Amino acid sequence: MNPFESLGLKHDGRTLWVLDQAQLPDAEVWLDGSDPATMEALIQRLAVRGAPLIGVAAATCLATFAERGASARDYALACAALRAARPTAVNLMWAMDRMKDATDPVTEAQAIFEEDVRLCEGMARHGADLIQDGEGILTHCNTGGLATAGIGTALGVLRRAHEQGKRIHVYADETRPLLQGGRLTAWELRKLGIPSTLITDSMAALLLRDGKVQRVLVGSDRVAANGDFANKVGTYGLAVQARFHGVPFHPVAPFSTVDLACPNGAAIPIELRDPGEVRGYGAWRWAPEGMPAWNPAFDVTPVDLVTSLVLDQGVYSAPELKAGVLAKR
Ligand code: MRU
Repeated sequence: MNPFESLGLKHDGRTLWVLDQAQLPDAEVWLDGSDPATMEALIQRLAVRGAPLIGVAAATCLATFAERGASARDYALACAALRAARPTAVNLMWAMDRMKDATDPVTEAQAIFEEDVRLCEGMARHGADLIQDGEGILTHCNTGGLATAGIGTALGVLRRAHEQGKRIHVYADETRPLLQGGRLTAWELRKLGIPSTLITDSMAALLLRDGKVQRVLVGSDRVAANGDFANKVGTYGLAVQARFHGVPFHPVAPFSTVDLACPNGAAIPIELRDPGEVRGYGAWRWAPEGMPAWNPAFDVTPVDLVTSLVLDQGVYSAPELKAGVLAKR
């Protein structure tokens, strides 16, 4: 493969390296992700995460596997295993379906990487037009360079608005239970120099009531044909709160996140994770041992709570989404 580098993924021509997001922000450790079984485990423990990035990482891993002489059978088995590594982010399935049929896996993986960079630019361009000077903007989870091959989805829009000189202030939800906001978005915001404040998820309603937030921007792991969408658990609650307070609410996603085979949000499979992630964090457990816990990684926001969806190709309002615009693009 030609060498490439993004915030969370790089290839030196021989080896694929993954920035271990589980160790951020305390340590920047790059792990060898060239072997498909290793990559599957890295995706499952969220060392590499974010819907677009797991598709790109799995594709570049398969290309490296092919370059190292994998047999057609081993390649097909690895492709199927990576496709099933996480169930909600449709970008992973989209990328694996392309790799499965690719005549040249290396060229295909490079195309997937470069396409994701371009899609981020498209979302940033369209999304930044919505942002007004002086806005406070609330976001959830991590949707930046760590979650994509490019500048990000929702965070890419915020980055572009900031670069355009708009005086925005970003409020980042810490994002329980795995703290993608507190650890990763906070890390990216500091690197980018965007004025920002970290809050716990439970503070968002108060912030909205106090008039500090003029817009909510989030990413998505899968957008159904009618505009319902899945994203990191807590997104649905934010959408309800934003509607109650009359604040515009926008998911931001590339077309590779749209799944026309899902007619609505009820058809989106939701990943259930280890309940231990709710009982504690890392080595620290605060709940009584054996306490039952529920850990859906994502929730579904109905299109009725969406103001508009920012795609790489343009911005679509809820009425347009409900009228089936995604299928007509
Ligand atoms: O479980 P994660 O950290 O992979 O969840 C990520 C999100 O929910 C993002 O909002 C989503 O992937 C889209 S942003 C690129």
